[in-house]
Amino acid sequence: MAALYRVLSRTMPVAVRGSGLRAFSYQHIIVAKKGGQQNVGLIQLNRPKALNALCNDLMTEVNQALDSFERDAQIGAIVITGSEKAFAAGADIKEMQNRTFQDCYGGNFLAHWNVICSVKKPVIAAVNGYALGGGCELAMMCDIIYAGEKAQFGQPEILLGTIPGAGGTQRLTRAVGKSLAMEMVLTGDRISAQEAKEAGLVSKVFPVEKLVEEAVACGEKIANHSKLVVSMAKEAVNGSFELTLAEGTRLEKRLFHCTFATDDRKEGMTAFVEKRKANFTDH
Ligand code: CAA
Repeated sequence: MAALYRVLSRTMPVAVRGSGLRAFSYQHIIVAKKGGQQNVGLIQLNRPKALNALCNDLMTEVNQALDSFERDAQIGAIVITGSEKAFAAGADIKEMQNRTFQDCYGGNFLAHWNVICSVKKPVIAAVNGYALGGGCELAMMCDIIYAGEKAQFGQPEILLGTIPGAGGTQRLTRAVGKSLAMEMVLTGDRISAQEAKEAGLVSKVFPVEKLVEEAVACGEKIANHSKLVVSMAKEAVNGSFELTLAEGTRLEKRLFHCTFATDDRKEGMTAFVEKRKANFTDH
């Protein structure tokens, strides 16, 4: 991760280093700050002719935008979305078509997709349309998934003679259980937004045109809390995917104790006792 950021910062124009997201010029994504206090970072995948297929350059840009939001003290949450037709139709099949085992294995193909899993700020996927293959996997790397009512989720790699390669077999199984995950991965069949909601893959479903504003509203709600403590809460929940119950509850306890080292914990409890709104400073 640190090494990747070193590479990214080496490849950024000197004038824009550390100067915020507006200085970047992106080809495949649109980046903006949203919300009343401009504290939600929005990344919109914007490769419409390829239904937002996740080519290497697009994912590199997503990583740059995530890095710039992660460094931006104003930003408290990030939303990733696509178009109404497609969140993302998967990894770029045309880019993969002629790849060999040797260059996939030797070059650790798709390793840079994992950057999103190291972001400390909460990331919300707002999924309209197709979230297939790598698109579904990208959504599942986010912390919360909201779906538009016409969204479709699937892992159709089996139809291409391959299998999910960006966490699909693992994260989908944890999210929806073995039977449905197996069915989706082995048949390539898609599920609707409503089925995804019933299975626990997404937390809420909205009308298509309301989706992004609802995701931003969720981001604003999160961003108004202590950013420091939000990151601790995220770390604790994510621990449940990696650790035994004993290890996970120990991590949680330690992070809970850590909140007592912050000004924001003191302010939150004092504000409650004084019957006023807390004024968090992220310290
Ligand atoms: N990669 C590259 N290009 C893609 C693409 C992809 N994953 N998905 C769509 N496109 C391109 C199409 O080739 C087409 O481009 P041209 O006009 O130049 O031919 C354009 O986007 C529009 O696509 P369609 O004409 O196919 O649109 P449609 O509305 O008829 O169908 C669809 C939409 C059902 C999503 C269909 O495009 C489709 O099945 N796409 C592939 C989905 C898929 O298999 N995803 C998994 C990829 S593998 C992967 O992701 C591996 C991993 O785990 C990381």
